[in-house]
This record gives sequence, structure tokens and C-alpha cells, in this order.
Amino acid sequence: MPQRKRYLFVCLNRRPDGVPKGSCAQRGAEGIYTQLKVALAERGLAKVEARACSASCLDVCWAGPAIAVQPDGYFYGRVTPEDIPEIVDALAADRRVERLVLPPEDFTEATAGPPLPAPPRRAPPEA
Ligand code: FES
Repeated sequence: MPQRKRYLFVCLNRRPDGVPKGSCAQRGAEGIYTQLKVALAERGLAKVEARACSASCLDVCWAGPAIAVQPDGYFYGRVTPEDIPEIVDALAADRRVERLVLPPEDFTEATAGPPLPAPPRRAPPEA
């Protein structure tokens, strides 16, 4: 496989329920990672342009789900499943989705914007 132009590291860290800090997996990162991999493959970008990789905590938990884009050196934050097509379109056009790029203040919890709410927990199946 050739070296890709970009590697997108998707934080899949999951903390136990009840930990106040929360985690990207609790906010839906696992589905986002899968959706991103599929979208890159469907657009023909996965073999040359960009590879989605799983990552542990990127230390911007309050702004997750988070994706670090390397070697460019910027982070997407508060990513939702609805954002994936726009992210992939931007990769194909060699640009970034500015509204999702974390500003410097989001790298410090005390100055970061509000986190995304955790998705609602699914009720257990009825017996
Ligand atoms: S849990 Fe995802 S950045 Fe920390």
C-alpha cells in the first residue's frame, strides 16, 4: 500500500459510564469511525488520499468526537455522523471543513466551547 496523503486519527477512547469527563466513544465516535472508513472507500480515496485510523484519547475529550488530521496538524471536533460526507468531500477537494476545525481555545478544557451531549442510551430489549 502506498503512503496516504493524510491519516485521520479518530479517537475511540471509551471511559466508564458516570465519569464526568465523558469520552468520544460515549458521544458516538465508533459509528463515526466506521462511517468515515466506508465513505473514504466508496469515494476511492482510501488507497491513496486518506486513511481513517483508530486512536486512543487525543486529549480534547470535551470537544469530541475528535479526529486528528495528519500531517496537516489540525483537529476536527464535535463531529457528528452528518458531518462525514462534508469531511470526505473536503478531503477530495484538498481543503478542510473550517466549521469543524478546533480553534486553539478548544485545546484547553477551561476555555473550550460546550461539549456535544452524549447520545441517548438505548433501552434494553423488552423480555
Ligand atoms: S476521549 Fe476522545 S479525545 Fe479524549
